Amino acid sequence: MIDSETIKHLWTHKTQDHPWLSDEELLIDRGEGVWLWTQKGKKVMDAFAGLAVVNVGHGRREIAEAVAEQTMRLAYYPTTRQFSNRPAAELAAKLATLTPGDLTYTLFAVSGSEANERSMQIARHYWLASGHPDKYKVIALEGGYHGATAGTFAVCGIPDLVKAYAPLQTPGFAKVAPPHPYRDRGAGTDEALVQRRVAELREAILREGPDTVSAVILEPVISSGGFIIPPLGWLRAVRAICDELNVLLIADEVITGFGRTGRWFGVDHERVVPDLMSVAKGITSGYIPLSASVARRRIADAFPENAKQENVHPNTYAAHPVACAAALANLRIMEHDGLVPNAERMGRRLLEGLQGAVGHEPIVGEVRGRGLMVCVDLVEPSGGGRPLDAERTSRLDRKAWERGAIVYVRGTVLRLAPPLCISPDEVDQLVGIVADSVRELGKECGR
Ligand SMILES: Cc1ncc(COP(=O)(O)O)c(C=O)c1O
Repeated sequence: MIDSETIKHLWTHKTQDHPWLSDEELLIDRGEGVWLWTQKGKKVMDAFAGLAVVNVGHGRREIAEAVAEQTMRLAYYPTTRQFSNRPAAELAAKLATLTPGDLTYTLFAVSGSEANERSMQIARHYWLASGHPDKYKVIALEGGYHGATAGTFAVCGIPDLVKAYAPLQTPGFAKVAPPHPYRDRGAGTDEALVQRRVAELREAILREGPDTVSAVILEPVISSGGFIIPPLGWLRAVRAICDELNVLLIADEVITGFGRTGRWFGVDHERVVPDLMSVAKGITSGYIPLSASVARRRIADAFPENAKQENVHPNTYAAHPVACAAALANLRIMEHDGLVPNAERMGRRLLEGLQGAVGHEPIVGEVRGRGLMVCVDLVEPSGGGRPLDAERTSRLDRKAWERGAIVYVRGTVLRLAPPLCISPDEVDQLVGIVADSVRELGKECGR
């Protein structure tokens, strides 16, 4: 047993999401499929797949074996100075077959933050190489989250998270509102909302000056901002604005990539091909950290193979052979077990199950989802759709834990993103746990 004195040396995320539990109680010791066991032996469903990471589920021996084999063969060699390694080359070629359109050139990194740093850096180098040295700004969405580095904080749309770093930030990175149908549709249609938001994005680029704007970065589904799901049509419209104003489109698929939304990538729902795509999390299901920025041919073509001048600088662990071997084994499981279609089917079952069970509860404003990103948006029971205060919403973390699931409440939204291998029976158990928790909170709120 690891005691709290020992755990105190570990700097965890001090959000006090679980004030009713001791550090000892929160030590996760073992996992299998969608299930976790704490060191004290409590079994809980991992209804957020860690941090929307463990797409193939916990405890997959095939990945462990691929990791062991590659570790013995070649644990590490850098991919600087034109060197490469076998799993990295194979994985880049595999990604070229999975990603849409001509997204075929991959630069690997380690975390999702770094993948976005690389995407923004590649965009910058692209403009330098193609004779547009003044293009550097990156426009992002309110509510968007792209990582925890200085560069990605500059495009973060969650002000509270980044205010401490304001003096360190690159100035001039504008944020625009995404289309959030539940909050902003009003009496109009989704289509009208998309048109309104796209017009605002266009105005923002014009205000900044298209000659200074390098890229627009966005998540196909805005995750940390509260599982905001823009209506279909939004990505296509953004793509058109970017083309019109000669601005690159960076899709941050760190969460939405690798099946999470029921398609291989979030942009696949609209057949949109971004210029750069940042991926991480599900690429290895978290067995080993790995991320990447995948570029379209026209971007890569700006950097000739025989160029001597350095462009984007890689980090020490870029294209780590063991991480790439883990990714290849992970993708084999995803394909063999049909996890992308499973995410679509189980996502629909989870969404419909929750809509049926709690959709009409007075404290539920909306149950929404795309694939296995499903959430319950909570409101004051008195009507009018005012968001339920965050203190009351956060009680749902505890209620679900006590009933046997880890969910992730943030702001007024209870978010679910279980492993893509979840079974129908497990989905039904999760619906039961969330529905009972929400109903109990409803009673506490006076309904
Ligand atoms: C959409 C998105 N982009 C980027 C990141 C950053 O990834 P990482 O924490 O691996 O740096 C996250 C992390 O949750 C994310 O959700």
